[in-house]
Order: sequence, then structure tokens, then C-alpha cells
Amino acid sequence: MIKEKLSSIGKDIYTVISELVQDTDIINLAKVSPEIPCSDGLTELAAKYIREKSAEYAHPNGLLELREAIAETIKKKYGVSFSARSEITVSAGATQAMYTAISSFVNEGDEVVLFEPAFNSYEPAIVSNGGRPVFVQRKQPDYHIDWEAVQKLINTRTRLIIVNTPHNPTGAVFTEEDIAQLKKITNGTNINVISDEVFEHIVFDRKKHHSILSDEQLAERSVVISSFGVTFNVPGWKIGYYIGSEKLMAQMRKKHLFQINTVNTPLQYALADFLKQGVDFSNIKKQFQAKRDFTIDLLKDSGFEIVPSKGTFYQLLDYSNLSDEKDTEFARRIMDEYGVALFPLSVFYHDSVDNKILGFSFAREEKVIKEAALRLNNIKKN
Ligand SMILES: Cc1ncc(COP(=O)(O)O)c(C=O)c1O
Repeated sequence: MIKEKLSSIGKDIYTVISELVQDTDIINLAKVSPEIPCSDGLTELAAKYIREKSAEYAHPNGLLELREAIAETIKKKYGVSFSARSEITVSAGATQAMYTAISSFVNEGDEVVLFEPAFNSYEPAIVSNGGRPVFVQRKQPDYHIDWEAVQKLINTRTRLIIVNTPHNPTGAVFTEEDIAQLKKITNGTNINVISDEVFEHIVFDRKKHHSILSDEQLAERSVVISSFGVTFNVPGWKIGYYIGSEKLMAQMRKKHLFQINTVNTPLQYALADFLKQGVDFSNIKKQFQAKRDFTIDLLKDSGFEIVPSKGTFYQLLDYSNLSDEKDTEFARRIMDEYGVALFPLSVFYHDSVDNKILGFSFAREEKVIKEAALRLNNIKKN
């Protein structure tokens, strides 16, 4: 008999919801892909290189021009230098980078600390590689990390800590203090850190993104992952990259070679040219800040309690004033009765913790947000 490695993992929530809303007029605000066009310049470059470069395999580590453009972008944004040749690798999206990093570091019985609510790809990758996930709940209402609780869980079996900032789906962002605490906890240990920073350009209210890359000592033991899909509104391209010290990268590239071999060539040329032309990343956050503010304003008289998201394009809604139902039941009812699909937060916890919170993405056209808010404002207390 074949032993199922992921017997405890079900379908992801986004797939479940898209299947439920198909062929209905339900507004799916749980949808992950942004309804915002990508820059014309980038799509034109993609079309050009699909014509010209489709017959070439790119280097397994990624097209060197693209890796150089990434190194340049990081230097400008964070003031730190990473080698395009030995410390940066292009991946088939952040998801592959995460899997490659986890599978490079985790062996049978290793413990991996991760924070819940957690993005849905981490736990399956840990379990597939024989690791044991050690879950730590973020603290409401701002979903900060209790580092003292983390310290208590660290032992000789701890192999990895996975962090995500800005955080999907709570919108929490790391402060300087979080970086200092993570550094303190890992100092003098063999623990590696994986930092999922796919929303690095989307931090609101004049705050800045605190990347692990900015801290030399922490960066030395870490892998930082980003996604062009998220940054340039092209999630369907599934292209991203990861950064790590030469030693860690050499280890990960061995896995990468056999997990993906090489990422599609034309889009790498397109992204390299696009980055080289100079991108104003501050426009990305401006665009989403406007959407966040617009959405919160439309919902201000609703029955939901709202703590504004600090980053990403996700917003959580506390519905405890509206209903005592479980979040999965409430989400189902407002979908059926009010025609809006939101995700229940409990699905991002291994033990389905239910704090009466739903979430949604505001990376949508204004008219969609307006119509959804109109419907959500009609929800009556039951
Ligand atoms: C936190 C987080 N990590 C990883 C990913 C996956 O990125 P990609 O589509 O590049 O694999 C996403 C996608 O939205 C995400 O939100």
C-alpha cells in the first residue's frame, strides 16, 4: 500500500471557494489574484521575449541579467549587497522557493517553528520532508508575535523558524523589535530562518518594511523569498526568487536543480529589462493604501469591527458583534444570503482556532469593492 504523506491536508480554501462561487453572482473577495492590470510595459516585454526567446533554456539558477537586476533592486531598497552569481536564485514563484528551502534544511524529526494563522503552503512542505511543525499563535488584535513563547519552544531539534512579513492574511508587519528578538533567539544556535517577504512593497501608513536582509547577522542564517507575481500583479506567471548566503544557497541549488531545473526563459528576460528600466516601487504601496482606505471607509458603519491592515492586500473583519456562529458557518451564510465570499480565518490554523474573524482581499476594482461593501453593510445581527 502507498503511504499518503499529506493525509491530514485538505483542499485549500481559495480552491474550495472558487468552486462554490462558479457560475453564481457571488462576489468572491477571497480571490487571491489581484484584479489590477499589470503594467503595459511589462506585458509588451513578455510578448516580445515569448517570440524571441522561447526556444532557450535559462540557466538553472536564473538568467544572470535578471539576478543582477534583482541584486541592484535590493541594494537600492535595503542598502545591502548580495551576489547575483552565488546568493540569488530565480524560482517558479515564492511557493517553489519555499518548498526548495524547506526540503533543503528539514530532515526526519526536525522541528520547524511557524506562526498561525499561516500561509497554506508551509505546513505541507514541512510534513512532506519528515519535519514536525511547531505552531505558535500570533496575538490578537494586531497579530504580533510573542517572542517569549517562541523562546520556550526552542530546543536542540529546532531546525527552522519560518516568518512572513508583511503577513498574509492578518496584514501584520515586523517592527525593528521583531528583528532584534528573532536575532536574539537564533543567536548561537544552528537554526535557519526562512522569511516570506512576498509583500515587501506593500506596507501602509508611512511605515517601512523591515526585511531580514537588512540585518547582516540574521541574513547570514536566513533565506528571504519574494514573488514577482505579487509585486507586479502577475500571479499567473509564477515567478519569484530567493536570496541566501553562498553556503545556504549552494545547498538549496542542489534541490532546485532537480525540483524545477530551470524557470521559463522569456519572462525572465522581460522582468530583467523591466527592472533595469527603473521601477518606482512606492507606487505599488500607494495604490493598495488607497484601496485599503477606500474599503475601510465603505465598511465603517457595518457591524464588523476593523483593525486596519498594516500591509499586504488583505483585511480582517471581526464579526463577534454580529453573530455567534462558527467562522466557517458564518462565511457560508453570508455567501448564500448576502452574495459575498470571504475566507474564515480558522482555516489558517492547524487546530481550526475560531476567533470569529473573516478576511478578504481588497486587490479589486473599486466597483467590485463598492458592491461587496453594499452587501456586507446589510448584514443584520442574529
Ligand atoms: C505569503 C505568501 N507566500 C507565498 C505566496 C505564493 O507566491 P507565488 O504565487 O509567487 O508562488 C503568496 C501568494 O500570494 C503569499 O501570499
